[in-house]
Amino acid sequence: MACGEYGEGKMSEPLKIVDELNQFFLNQSQNKKFKALVTAGPTNEYIDPVRFITNKSSGKQGYELAKCLSKKGFDTTLISGPTNLEVEKDIKLIEVETADEMLLETQKNLPANVAVFSAAVADFKINKKYKEKIKKQVSLNLNLEKNVDILSYVSNHNSIRPELVIGFAAETDNVENNAETKLNNKNCDWIIANDVSNKKIGFNSDFNEVTIHYSDKNKEKLSYKKKSEISEEIVDRIITQIN
Ligand code: PMT
Repeated sequence: MACGEYGEGKMSEPLKIVDELNQFFLNQSQNKKFKALVTAGPTNEYIDPVRFITNKSSGKQGYELAKCLSKKGFDTTLISGPTNLEVEKDIKLIEVETADEMLLETQKNLPANVAVFSAAVADFKINKKYKEKIKKQVSLNLNLEKNVDILSYVSNHNSIRPELVIGFAAETDNVENNAETKLNNKNCDWIIANDVSNKKIGFNSDFNEVTIHYSDKNKEKLSYKKKSEISEEIVDRIITQIN
């Protein structure tokens, strides 16, 4: 294969290839009118000029979602905390570092038809950032204050609220109940729950397994597969919802 993979294989039937191509271009032209916003990656909250607190996230799930939305024709903006990932040229990438910057860029880049909040935003920031590097000392107390919840902010502002607002829930226990609580508290349309205590999925893995919780109380499990494939399935559902 051109990608370097080798082994026994078989070409798909030509008619199947033509069907796939037709569907691809149909999707592209149908979804061209839609705008999507995706947040991804962690945020860094500075203690002093050289130290910060952060959350664990590689950005892989969010980048795959943005890639898939763009491939299906959405005009896609990706607001990302620091990651090592590359992004396709069709996607408008906005790089940020802190939750405050992520909030500001989100506000600037709305309205959109759909917004997917997959970023692992730090819940707290340092109340008063030190201007100089803190000198070594026996102990240090940090005063933290809550960051604005970007997802809740967008969900609860009707003037900027996209037609479809999707959050993620990264949980280590009580996954389903915690996700339901977030769906209600954050006033979003769907919450996509993943169990980040499982090393095979979640943070930094190329794989995931998620349950989509819908605001009408239905839920749907997407079984263990690549984050790219999970993204395809999520984006197919987004398209069905907003078309
Ligand atoms: O990046 P990867 O390594 O691929 O891992 C993917 C992932 C596990 C990070 C991703 O699938 C995921 O679950 N993202 C959400 C992580 C998270 O921090 O969830 P939360 O339960 O703390 O937050 C709930 C929702 O509120 C999320 O949509 C989050 O983006 C949003 N939020 C949270 C806090 C805040 N201040 N602002 C927000 O918008």
